[in-house]
Amino acid sequence: MWQTLAHDLDALLDKSDHPITTLANAAAFLYQNLERINWVGFYINDGSKLYLGPFGGKPACTNIEIGKGVCGTAATDREIIIVDDVDKFPGHIACDPDSRSEIVLPIILPDGKLFGVLDLDSAEFARFGDKEREGLQTLCEIIIRKIPPQS
Ligand code: SME
Repeated sequence: MWQTLAHDLDALLDKSDHPITTLANAAAFLYQNLERINWVGFYINDGSKLYLGPFGGKPACTNIEIGKGVCGTAATDREIIIVDDVDKFPGHIACDPDSRSEIVLPIILPDGKLFGVLDLDSAEFARFGDKEREGLQTLCEIIIRKIPPQS
């Protein structure tokens, strides 16, 4: 399944498009194709905070401080974070009250800059495990390849 998703996402995204266009179609693709997900989207790094980018799901928090919440922590640590129960993550920022578990992946460009994060939420506890970590990491690598170098 992850192989098919990777193939289809690679075919969908076009490197010559504006990054927002690419993220918008990537978010829509993930929202349509992954099961038991209530929110998926991007938070983009502006150098001092993360701001809400393209997403699927309910309207969400617009700005997240670097280092705060699951997204801001993944941005600081530059590591994938999986949270089985969001109520047990200190400082979790509740945007959609239905969310019970979450995975956040940092999006690091080839030049080492943190572009932002990809955040997925589920209304199920412990929805995300090793398969999702690996599969989503591959999908993030495809998305990164479709983002033109930033000036
Ligand atoms: N829960 C996230 C905030 C973003 S929403 O889930 C869409 C966090 O703690 O960073």
